[in-house]
Amino acid sequence: MPKSSLHINIPGLVVNRKNKTPAYRQIYEGLRNIILNRQIREGQRLPSSRMLAEDLKVSRNIVLLAYEQLALEGYINSGVGSGSYVSKSLDQIITYPKQKVLTPNIKVSETKSFVNLKHPLSENIINTESAKSSVIPFQNGIPSFDQFPFKQWVKCANKIFREFEFLHLGYDDAQGFYPLRQSIAAYLRTNRALQCEPEQIVITNGAQQAINMIAKMLIKKNDLFWMEDPGYANAKAAFMEEGALPCYIPLSKNGINVDWAIKHYPKANLVYVTPSNQFPTGGTLPLPKRIQLLNWAHKNDMWIIEDDYDSEFRYFKKPVASLQGLDNFGRVIYLGTFSKILFPALRIGYLVLPSVEIAKTFSKAKSFFDRQNSITDQAILHEFMKQDFFASHLRKMRILYKKRQDFLCSQIHKYGKGVIRVEKQDSGMHLIGWLPDGMDDKVISEFLHSHNIISTPLSRYANKFETKPGLILGYTSFNEKYLKDYSIKLISFLKKITGSST
Ligand SMILES: Cc1ncc(COP(=O)(O)O)c(C=O)c1O
Repeated sequence: MPKSSLHINIPGLVVNRKNKTPAYRQIYEGLRNIILNRQIREGQRLPSSRMLAEDLKVSRNIVLLAYEQLALEGYINSGVGSGSYVSKSLDQIITYPKQKVLTPNIKVSETKSFVNLKHPLSENIINTESAKSSVIPFQNGIPSFDQFPFKQWVKCANKIFREFEFLHLGYDDAQGFYPLRQSIAAYLRTNRALQCEPEQIVITNGAQQAINMIAKMLIKKNDLFWMEDPGYANAKAAFMEEGALPCYIPLSKNGINVDWAIKHYPKANLVYVTPSNQFPTGGTLPLPKRIQLLNWAHKNDMWIIEDDYDSEFRYFKKPVASLQGLDNFGRVIYLGTFSKILFPALRIGYLVLPSVEIAKTFSKAKSFFDRQNSITDQAILHEFMKQDFFASHLRKMRILYKKRQDFLCSQIHKYGKGVIRVEKQDSGMHLIGWLPDGMDDKVISEFLHSHNIISTPLSRYANKFETKPGLILGYTSFNEKYLKDYSIKLISFLKKITGSST
């Protein structure tokens, strides 16, 4: 319990001079009610008698009298010079009235009726993950926290706080902190071959907000959108939430099957793609397919939403130029995030819009939704990029993640014969652990979860097209000891389930 004293303005505690009840009694009764209503809880400190006397405009002795009475009756403990605290053994002397509070353990069925009091939430929102995510193998998409350069980050933060300006405290440009947009534009031009100026960038609260904003700004009811199948469920949900209808597109070995999409759904208004590293199966859309997609989008007035969520992590081949960098017609909206390179709690992502005018319009929307991202966080990130800490961290993580991927592959190859199979991936933060045909990956994932192993089933991201059964095995956040122990644990469970003795 924090030892800080209560703010002296305890709401509702007043002394009414016209009242015949003595002032000390009014204070005593007021405080007692506040304690009984549990506005102030066991162990919490009361304001000092001097401060309360000043606030209530009475003499200090009157407050002391009230405190004495409360102490006498066991509501508070007072020690000379150490302040007055609500008694920790209160529950032994009073029974609190039962309060209607929603406890964290409330069941889903109960929350549903509570939620429905206002607006019935759609399935898209109900199914969204909102709990704190655990960092245990094989949770995917989580960077290596143990290797995060805290020292450098704190150094940048200290610099920003030392040089704090009035500007940092106010309403800034909703589009995002300009120096950060400059750093991001420079980074994207050199590393991802984007055609981009800071004026085209809008800083968002993670990539998810970027997707939600696109959905709000571009989607009309009954619009058709191409959706990779399997694909990123939260993007699908965002577009459907605005009334768009998904056109599920199967994958070829290298991402979305563009020919199939054109043949089956030529009237689509938008496509959501992860061309650098298809989520979740991996694979990079080759250059000819990128050009085909861009030409189709140009001729058919289609928006391309390019989600480049983890393109930084490439381990063998050189990256293919982004769709945005190849786009001469202004059809691509590019989005990225710092969740995977730095840490998800930072909640900084960005949009690169095809023109300054469109970026200005998106900035209005950003301002309407949540006004702006935190300026201090943006300034710290800008400093981190400016000092080259960012580039150096990225280099280190590429080497580390490749090693971790290699290690996980070796463990699965060594112990998993007959029950699970993996292939090395050129990019990304997870592998797919392919299970024997006919197994239900959802059931297996649930079973593993009950034994403290996290592995999302591949079928969770599938829609119309069935996938082979597989488990998503994130490896970036776990050292070799963890990867080894958990691989052995995972494989021994799979052997038990399949009855395999190999
Ligand atoms: C494909 C894809 N896009 C976007 C996101 C959202 O990232 P952010 O944390 O920046 O909202 C994720 C998160 O895992 C993702 O996997």
